[in-house]
Amino acid sequence: MKELRVTVAENVPIAKNVYKMRFLLPEKTEGLACGKFVNISVGDGAHLLRRPIAICGYDETSVTICYQLKGAGTRAMSEKKVGDTLSCVLPLGNGFVVEEQEKRIALIGGGVGIFPMLSVLREYAGLGKEFYSYIGFRNKDAVCMEEEFSALSQELHIVTDDGSFGDRGNAVSAFFAGIDAANPDVIFACGPTPMLRALKTELSARKVNIPCYVSLEERMGCGIGACLVCVCKRAGGKGNARVCKDGPVFAIGEVEI
Ligand SMILES: Cc1cc2nc3c(=O)[nH]c(=O)nc-3n(C[C@H](O)[C@H](O)[C@H](O)COP(=O)(O)OP(=O)(O)OC[C@H]3O[C@@H](n4cnc5c(N)ncnc54)[C@H](O)[C@@H]3O)c2cc1C
Ligand code: FES
Repeated sequence: MKELRVTVAENVPIAKNVYKMRFLLPEKTEGLACGKFVNISVGDGAHLLRRPIAICGYDETSVTICYQLKGAGTRAMSEKKVGDTLSCVLPLGNGFVVEEQEKRIALIGGGVGIFPMLSVLREYAGLGKEFYSYIGFRNKDAVCMEEEFSALSQELHIVTDDGSFGDRGNAVSAFFAGIDAANPDVIFACGPTPMLRALKTELSARKVNIPCYVSLEERMGCGIGACLVCVCKRAGGKGNARVCKDGPVFAIGEVEI
């Protein structure tokens, strides 16, 4: 993990209120991986806290993130131009790991939770794995990255809350509709807390024993394990976990959701 001054190479809207930013790294950066995140300072003096954003893609010289406009911080990010520089701490967190024996992988993403799922696809596609992707959006205006998912997934199911694109429903219900056909060895998911809670409840109700890992999105302060702003509860009364340092990826049974 290091703090770097990165240079914006691309910063464009890809859906309503959603932007893709690619920034150039000034030096070789070890440890970039799917499911990890970066902590960006918007650098205008008014927003002192960094904003955590998942890595959506990377190569030797650049990192791509996608972000939804939420408040002043992400709005300030959207105003950055090609050539502007930002302070960025990266890579942070633990990330998703596909084990050698896991061949069939289910990816469940809701809203901005699709971006870390895309990073898994980009990292492991072509390595003898099969991906079954279930991605959900609020409506058709929010739909993005469908071509990227489609190109790398064996099966792609897109759903929207209002049925204005794809089937009506959410990513979790789409996954359970296809679970028998997909027959995954492992499940990865990221999305709003109610979505992850529904996934956990349904897996338990159906007594599904497939390993499942989820990426949590808590509010964060330092992003490096020092301030405890991001703690969540470990399941079974086993104390707290720091989402930034111990996560953001946890086995679904490891934490309370
Ligand atoms: C590990 C991690 C990865 C993330 N990856 C992405 C990503 O890939 N793309 C993306 O768009 N967003 C992602 N987020 C959420 C993102 O960090 C927040 O949306 C962002 O910090 C909001 O900043 P802001 O200044 O625009 O909004 P603020 O003014 O700080 O807040 C505006 C609204 O956003 C909500 N918000 C703030 N922080 C979070 C948070 N951490 N999670 C959920 N809601 C929040 C607030 O409750 C408030 O309603 C991630 C968060 C974490 C912890
Ligand atoms: S954000 Fe400070 S400990 Fe996690």
